[in-house]
Amino acid sequence: MEEIKIGLLGFGNVGTGVYKILEENRNDILHREGLKLKVEKILVRDVHKRRKMIIDSSLFTDNIKDIIDNPEISIVAEFMGGIDPAKEYILAALEKKKTVVTANKEVMARYWSELEKAAQKNGVGLYYEASVAGGIPIIKVMGESLQANKVYELMGIINGTTNYILTKMSEEGRSFEDVLSEAQRLGYAEPDPTADIEGFDATYKLSILSSIAFHARVPIEYIYREGITKITAEDIAYGKELGYVIRLLAIAKKQGFSIETRVHPTFIPMSHPLAAVRDSYNAIFIRGDAVGSMMLYGRGAGDLPTGSAVVSDIITACHQSEKHRYTTFYNEAQVSEEVNFIKNWETEFFIRLTVKDKPGVLAKIAGIFGKHEVSIASMIQKNHNEDSVPLIFVTHHAKELSMKKAIDDIKCQQDVIRVENVIRVEN
Ligand SMILES: NC(=O)c1ccc[n+]([C@@H]2O[C@H](COP(=O)([O-])OP(=O)(O)OC[C@H]3O[C@@H](n4cnc5c(N)ncnc54)[C@H](OP(=O)(O)O)[C@@H]3O)[C@@H](O)[C@H]2O)c1
Repeated sequence: MEEIKIGLLGFGNVGTGVYKILEENRNDILHREGLKLKVEKILVRDVHKRRKMIIDSSLFTDNIKDIIDNPEISIVAEFMGGIDPAKEYILAALEKKKTVVTANKEVMARYWSELEKAAQKNGVGLYYEASVAGGIPIIKVMGESLQANKVYELMGIINGTTNYILTKMSEEGRSFEDVLSEAQRLGYAEPDPTADIEGFDATYKLSILSSIAFHARVPIEYIYREGITKITAEDIAYGKELGYVIRLLAIAKKQGFSIETRVHPTFIPMSHPLAAVRDSYNAIFIRGDAVGSMMLYGRGAGDLPTGSAVVSDIITACHQSEKHRYTTFYNEAQVSEEVNFIKNWETEFFIRLTVKDKPGVLAKIAGIFGKHEVSIASMIQKNHNEDSVPLIFVTHHAKELSMKKAIDDIKCQQDVIRVENVIRVEN
């Protein structure tokens, strides 16, 4: 049986996971899949670095040509991260007629059309299961098991770091800053956590997921993004009283040719399936016209879970080497003219204000909501501190822009000390 030789780009968290799976499960893959897979070379930055996993050091190289120009290597698996030089190396591998498997969500979200065109032109494959939700096989499920459906909604917890932070804040009543520094100490959050806590990472993943779900290209620029840095322990405690749990959700909805996509902190009812997703776990909740509601749950990151997705792509690529599959939609950098992206979506809102403890303030605020066609579903007024009082409102469905105008008006009121937070609510 012919050996299939693989070049790895990167030997960090994901790279070591992939290597370990290929080594430890070699016989299972051989017997079950009839494939003899061998890692031929591994590109790293520093070949002399001390590594957690000790392997044959002759496998390492710091020269990409050792992989790209090796005619025996037919599959290149990339997990270096970032854009430069990952994108250039992926393109070079495709041009040399090597199939590429990648875990790199940023490269995929930004350059998908360019990379896919290069793969198609060269008759090779481009696989990216690990780029979204780590070990959860969401791309395969959507492409190979839900084809009978029109998927019209998906809501995902697709960033483990923020879910870990929000879970700790909710369950232990701690502040964002406190939990973030603990997460950094424990290695759950990066030293520079911006990509996670500001929602960029989830935006890249939602761009990939929603494009596949809706068969229409959803560039990252069309996704509304808001991170979790302004969420406080007070917001979470008031939300809990109202029966809500907070999560950073990636939301995509489609109606006809209209699509809305957004990443933001969201209150969901405690009974929602996504409310049970704690710590660094990921989950994707999908609604399709035939399948109804379903949810996939699992590890969204980590060496072995992500390695599981990468090795699965390598196996699929080997089986489909004669006929790789590509996206079935208009996959250009620009969006299709047919698609209309909605900015003024409708949702419910949680609003927390601190106001002066004076008669008539509540009526004034209710009047402003009414003027902007925002109707109030419930309200809590809490114990006052000296001369100020917290007011919490939950609205019925309201338009995003109407809420923005209402909040702008409320901020101008002399009796309103602060608009503490506005958090969207999904059911
Ligand atoms: N970590 C996860 O759980 C996870 C989950 C899903 C997807 N991903 C994605 O997978 C990718 C890798 O993540 P990771 O956590 O494994 O990263 P990592 O631990 O930082 O590893 C990166 C590896 O790439 C090598 N590398 C980086 N830049 C290079 C360059 N210019 N030339 C040669 N080698 C270079 C590094 O070499 P040295 O070892 O010599 O420094 C290192 O081995 C990212 O795109 C990430 O978003 C990660």
